[in-house]
Formats: sequence, structure tokens, C-alpha cells
Amino acid sequence: MQATGIAALLSLWEAACQTVDISDRPVTIVDYGCSQGRNSMIPMRKAVDVMRSRVDASIPIEVVHTDLPSNDFSSLFEALISDPNSYMTGSSDVFPLAIGKSYFAPLLPPGRVHLGWSTWSLQWMSTNAIDAPDHILAGMSRSPAVAAAVAAQQASDWECFLTQRSREMRPGAKFVAGFTARANAETGWEWLLGELWSALADMRRDGLLSEQEQEQVTIPIGLRSLEDIKAPFRQSGSFAELALEHLDLVKVSDPFWPEFEGSGDRLAFARQHADMTRAWSGPLLAGVAPASCEQTAFVDELFSRFERRLSEDPKPHEPYMAAVVLSKKPQ
Ligand SMILES: C[S@@+](CC[C@H](N)C(=O)[O-])C[C@H]1O[C@@H](n2cnc3c(N)ncnc32)[C@H](O)[C@@H]1O
Repeated sequence: MQATGIAALLSLWEAACQTVDISDRPVTIVDYGCSQGRNSMIPMRKAVDVMRSRVDASIPIEVVHTDLPSNDFSSLFEALISDPNSYMTGSSDVFPLAIGKSYFAPLLPPGRVHLGWSTWSLQWMSTNAIDAPDHILAGMSRSPAVAAAVAAQQASDWECFLTQRSREMRPGAKFVAGFTARANAETGWEWLLGELWSALADMRRDGLLSEQEQEQVTIPIGLRSLEDIKAPFRQSGSFAELALEHLDLVKVSDPFWPEFEGSGDRLAFARQHADMTRAWSGPLLAGVAPASCEQTAFVDELFSRFERRLSEDPKPHEPYMAAVVLSKKPQ
């Protein structure tokens, strides 16, 4: 699913790479929220290729991958060597670097960055603003108190992120991002995460956790609307010297659905979705597991029940992604 959304952003990214001012050297490209880097290879390769086509082949390019300190950076550096799609393969004068620090803080010296990229990351809140009593995802709760706390946190995080990025971007720099968002009331996550919450409720019903423990299992993700994303820019047309060049909502197709339609294999379809969901949420869920449960056993049990539920009622999972392009005011 991540790769499908990234493919939808590539034309915006290529246009940003083609038009950004690269008169200063080295060219600095930053990948914010890189995880293990598997999905960064194609966009970073695209950026390197466009830079090479615009100026002479030996222009030095630094590619800075950033994520939280707990991120598995070893796998990222391993992938740079061994992944068949690595942008390092056959490249020269390309210098990969990594920073383990939250992007809600300054990451690089002022005016350093030419191009910024971030996918499937900015929906995570900087902190768990509030536990949701009625959903596993904070941003899908129907509680007015939770909705208000999530909206306030997401608004403040967005302004903080924009302010930090603006400081480190050069005049004329560009930033392209794609992250989970909502189309008014609909998010596209209703089926998948509804079943995850129901699997947790099944565990409570079977006495594996209390009601209070169930409530504490909250994923701190909020889903902004396009209006929320535009909000900081509304008053003056810019925010922190950044202009919102492009904003739209993309419905990302389910990468596993065509195969399921062909094979009818419900178990395989459910396993693919359960594995994908566990990959992005498993570490967080282990961290909020009830104290009475062993963390891995808790996550194993939850995802085994989740997978069973998905196989009983397969549906296409089609989340919305906001596609955003920002540019820093030229000098
Ligand atoms: C779902 S992964 C996306 C990885 C990759 N960009 C992709 O598109 O596949 C989200 C990543 O964002 C990172 N992340 C979340 N909050 C962050 C923060 N405040 N600062 C830096 N990285 C963050 C997570 O650690 C995780 O690696």
C-alpha cells in the first residue's frame, strides 16, 4: 500500500526535482521518516537521476534519511548496499547520511536543504494526546473530547513541522509529502482498523484484558482533512515563508485486492493485510500492551484474531492520502 501511494506522488516529486534551484553545492535531499528505507529507494533514485540530467554528472549529492532514534537504521544502511533498487547502485558522488531525531525538532543547519520528501509518516502525532475509549486509532474516535484533542495536537504538530522544515530549507527549496488523511467523514481505514479494534474487543470479552486496558491501547495517529492542511496558509497565503504549491487527496488502491479477486484466497488476502498492518503498528502496540500481558504474546494474539476477522469479511482497503507540495520563498 505504501508503495502504491508513493507511485502516485512520483510525478509531483519529479517536477520538484526538475524545478528546484540547485546553484549551490552539494545538493541536499532529505527523506523525513524513512523507516528502513525500502520505499525511499525509488524516489531518491529519481531525484539523483534528475539532478544528474540537469547538471554535470559529478555534482555531489547528499541524501539524508531521518527517523526516530529507535528506528532500525542498520537495515537502512544494509538496504543501501544490497537492495536491488538501491539508489546507490551504479551511482557515484552520492553520500547517504542518517539522523535519529524527531522531525518536530531542528534536524539540519539553517538553509541546508534543497529537496525534502516524506511519505506515510506525518499522520503520527508527536505525542499521544488522549486515549480513545471507542477505537484503536485516536483519529477515528467518535468521542467529541478525543476528536478535539486530536485536532488540536495535529494542528500544533503541523505548524511545528512546517516551521522546522522552513528553517532548514534553502530559498526556493521544495518539499513533497504524502500522508494518510481523511475525506470529510470518510478515511478509507474503516474496515481494516474497525476489525483491529473488534479483535481487541474480542480479547477483552475473553478476559485477556480489562476495559481500562483496552482503552489504553490507542495508536496516536490523527487524520487531517485538506482544510486542516490548508489552515496555516489561509490567512496570508503563506506560512513560515512556505507556500502550499499543491494539495490534493488521492484514494490509494488496495495492492492485494486484484490477486484476491483472481484467486479467491481469503486466507492469503487476510495474511497480507495483517502482516502489513503489523509492520507499521506492531512496535507501538507492543509498547502500549497491558502490563499484565507479555508484549510479543499480546501482539501475536491480537494479530491472529485480526487476521481471522479479515478472512471472514474481505473488503478492499482504500485509504486516502494527502499529496502536498511546499516551496520556500525564493531569495
Ligand atoms: C509507516 S512508516 C513510513 C516509512 C516510509 N517513509 C514509507 O513510506 O514506507 C512511518 C515512519 O515515520 C517515522 N516517524 C513517526 N514519527 C516521527 C517523528 N516525529 N520524527 C521522525 N520520524 C517519525 C516512524 O518511526 C516510521 O519509521
